[in-house]
Amino acid sequence: MKILVIGGGGREHAILWALTRDRRKPDLFCAPGNAGTASLAKNIPVASEDVEGLLAWALANKPDLTVVGPEAPLCAGLVDRFQDAGLRVFGPCRAAAQLEGSKVFSKEIMVAAGVPCAQSAAFTDCRDALAYVRKIGAPLVIKADGLAAGKGVDVCATVEEAETAVRRALVENRHGEAGRRILVEEFLEGEEVSMLGLVDGTRTVLLDSAQDHKRIFDGDQGPNTGGMGAYSPAPVMTPEWKPVILEHVFDRVLAELRRRGIVYKGVLYAGIMMTARGPRVLEFNCRFGDPETQALLPRLASDLIPALEACVDGTLKDAHVAWKPAACVSVVLASKGYPEAYPKGLAIRGLEAAAALEDVIVFHAGTALREGNPVTAGGRVLGVTALGATMSAAVQRAYQAVDRIAFDGLQVRRDIAARALQRGL
Ligand code: AMP
Ligand code: GLY
Repeated sequence: MKILVIGGGGREHAILWALTRDRRKPDLFCAPGNAGTASLAKNIPVASEDVEGLLAWALANKPDLTVVGPEAPLCAGLVDRFQDAGLRVFGPCRAAAQLEGSKVFSKEIMVAAGVPCAQSAAFTDCRDALAYVRKIGAPLVIKADGLAAGKGVDVCATVEEAETAVRRALVENRHGEAGRRILVEEFLEGEEVSMLGLVDGTRTVLLDSAQDHKRIFDGDQGPNTGGMGAYSPAPVMTPEWKPVILEHVFDRVLAELRRRGIVYKGVLYAGIMMTARGPRVLEFNCRFGDPETQALLPRLASDLIPALEACVDGTLKDAHVAWKPAACVSVVLASKGYPEAYPKGLAIRGLEAAAALEDVIVFHAGTALREGNPVTAGGRVLGVTALGATMSAAVQRAYQAVDRIAFDGLQVRRDIAARALQRGL
């Protein structure tokens, strides 16, 4: 069996790693991949946004299944193009991917479906938006409608900050086309949790819970990043909430999409705030989370391929998805300067020594090979991942591995999974 994985980050390395453990032992390809994926798959030098280039490769090489990692090709309609060409592909079609591609659309669906979420209003006119901001008062959240590479959300503590964020989006076009329309949203307080579900058009199988760490510095300080680490399971998601999330979030949103003639297949990611009044959806993503996937897939006890195929084929009711009781932590090593500008091409040392530790996997994110040696090539460079019988054992092991790796200017958070540890796990 031949499988093509699209993307080149830590999430895709983790997906490939899980595929290598499937009993079908597929031949793996990754476009474009990184230095880590090169050890598990053949890297194909086609960018993940290059839908036509990917289609041409797939038509020539006939993968039995294509798995799409990032949102951009999904929102651009890669799945529709592949399906039209008769290729089997895992991920939502363009219309369904709009749940991530447009926050205004996503909110409209949530409201119509009765999914618990923050109150909000959409604006294209700056004056109207400012009037609304002053009316509801701070704190509040300003969100660009479209894809903004994780930079489209401003959490504003004061009305002045919110006014600045509104003007930046609607007048100064800071987010380009993505920010021509914005949502002004009620601020929700609580602990965040990522709930991902495998979806086959009608049915959802929830994956186990995970928690991301979005800010660059310890104690959730500093600017937002793509994610500085993750762990699974997340104890904030207590068992009694899972059926509520399944029915009130996943079932309702999928039913509302179906009412509009849109069939969702693939992974649906709900970013949820656990508030004093219960869970509220902050956002949907139309794909596996990054870095949540790096903390989730090492815990998967069942085969990945049948689960992915069941989504494509609409047969999830027969699928078997099981988890190891172990805890998993993935700590991101980032480049100096990230999430702003950062250098590239710096030598990475100690990868083998880190991976030699028991139950440690080093997932590559922004890496490349230079004369056969790994060098930095992105903001988030590695996801150093460890399993453990308890969260504290996993954390200890992960940081032991982290301390064996070095590159110039390396940034790392030292408090990944601290919230779980505080709960005594
Ligand atoms: P997003 O890009 O939509 O995931 O938002 C980025 C981050 O902004 C989220 O992970 C939350 O930490 C925060 N956020 C988004 N919406 C809200 C909200 N309504 N209330 C509080 N925080 C929010
Ligand atoms: N971990 C956040 C995301 O995947 O968007």
